[in-house]
Amino acid sequence: IKIRDLDAPAVADGDAGADGDAAAAHPLPGTRVKVSGWVHRIRWEGAKLLFLELRDGTGFLQAVLTGTQCQTTDAINLHRESSVTLWGTLSADARAKGGVELRSDYWELVGRSPAEIEEVLSHDSNPDILLRNRHLVVRGTRASSILRMRSIITQCFREHLFDRGYIELTPPTLVNTMCEGGSTLFHLDYFGEPAYLTQSSQMYLETGIPAVGDCFCLLPSYRAEKSSTRRHLAEFHHLEAECPFITFEELLDRVEDLVVDVVERVMKRGGSLLASVNPNLAAMKRPFKRMTYRDALVYCRDNLIYKDEETQTHFDFGDDIPEGPERKMTDKIGEPILLHRFPAALKSFYMQKCDDDREVTESVDLLVPGVGEVVGGSMRMWKEEELAAAYKREGMDPKPYYWYTDQRKYGTCPHGGYGLGLERFVCFVLGIHHIRDACLFPRYRGRIEP
Ligand code: 4AD
Repeated sequence: IKIRDLDAPAVADGDAGADGDAAAAHPLPGTRVKVSGWVHRIRWEGAKLLFLELRDGTGFLQAVLTGTQCQTTDAINLHRESSVTLWGTLSADARAKGGVELRSDYWELVGRSPAEIEEVLSHDSNPDILLRNRHLVVRGTRASSILRMRSIITQCFREHLFDRGYIELTPPTLVNTMCEGGSTLFHLDYFGEPAYLTQSSQMYLETGIPAVGDCFCLLPSYRAEKSSTRRHLAEFHHLEAECPFITFEELLDRVEDLVVDVVERVMKRGGSLLASVNPNLAAMKRPFKRMTYRDALVYCRDNLIYKDEETQTHFDFGDDIPEGPERKMTDKIGEPILLHRFPAALKSFYMQKCDDDREVTESVDLLVPGVGEVVGGSMRMWKEEELAAAYKREGMDPKPYYWYTDQRKYGTCPHGGYGLGLERFVCFVLGIHHIRDACLFPRYRGRIEP
């Protein structure tokens, strides 16, 4: 928590430790201080002793109010989530979180909070009440810790990519092209012309490689996902990268490097905050297991993972392995898997076919235990004729894609990239079960407010 030392002119905060250890070096016990924040918890002991746990977003501090300070109307009507300012002296107290306590000698109510807060933020509120009141729920210990950790994770991604020499670009998210199939497009009216919310910034990133080389973006993508599962959102944050003159093997290496290195950075930066949210996060081992789609079919067959449980039908080449069976396989294997070389018919129109097997593509999904797919990537078709044939095969009008086609016309090159779902990755790193808990205000079918 930010504590203003009233004897020193400067604000005493500045933290040499991990970012997750937000508590600044506190002024010493005996110092007269001023603290502003929200009342996180309230505990009365009799009528003349009031313990408050204060929160300001950076941390917590126990404060104690005694005597007439507890006997004002404001004190008697004080409820959780009121904002307050307290003046007093810091005192060492082993029983208080952080080992210090603020002995208040004067306080002011800044903004009151009504008694109904207890009904909203009670442990047995049903999930729908909590979701409707997400704007208040985010103040809670777990929800706010997750938001802080998500910020650290985002920072680690940027640091990783800047360290490896990538340039950040910001493609538009209002578009008139589709990238990942028509069924999940959000349509909108763009000044009288049909347009969509982007499903992926990949195609625009591809235009960036001749301009800036390796590049990335971290922007929202939108999918009108009809099914609501614990890993699907209608709006998610998409970390996407695109790299010129790489091979498929190098693409797999880059996905592995990203995930392993970012987990290491998060462990270093997360400190006690990370430990409080997920004490079980462990560094990941290189290399990741690499498995082809064809091998996955054999694995499912051998391990009785069926396409249809009831009739015990096995997967055949060309079948999509849906979320359920895919997760069964990943959890059984118990380590990250770079599942690759998917059939062309299952994947997006732009994916490069393998030279040695034209039925499959240079495509990859990274699957991790507990969450499933967190990354999807591929090498891109880089010959103009192949792309033209792909438009035709998919029944796409090539006109709105003229700029994408031009990439193949003007100095084409082998290239590839990937997209990582930030919220899914946050679930993985923080051990979160449902993806909505990784968002400030989740968007999925049936939820547009708050
Ligand atoms: O596999 P996807 O659909 O791949 C693409 O969009 C590529 N164009 C990316 C690229 O190569 N630049 O999506 C990539 C990742 C998924 O692995 C998943 O983590 C996340 O985006 N994702 C979602 N996350 C939450 N909710 C959804 N509805 C998501 N759809 C995809």
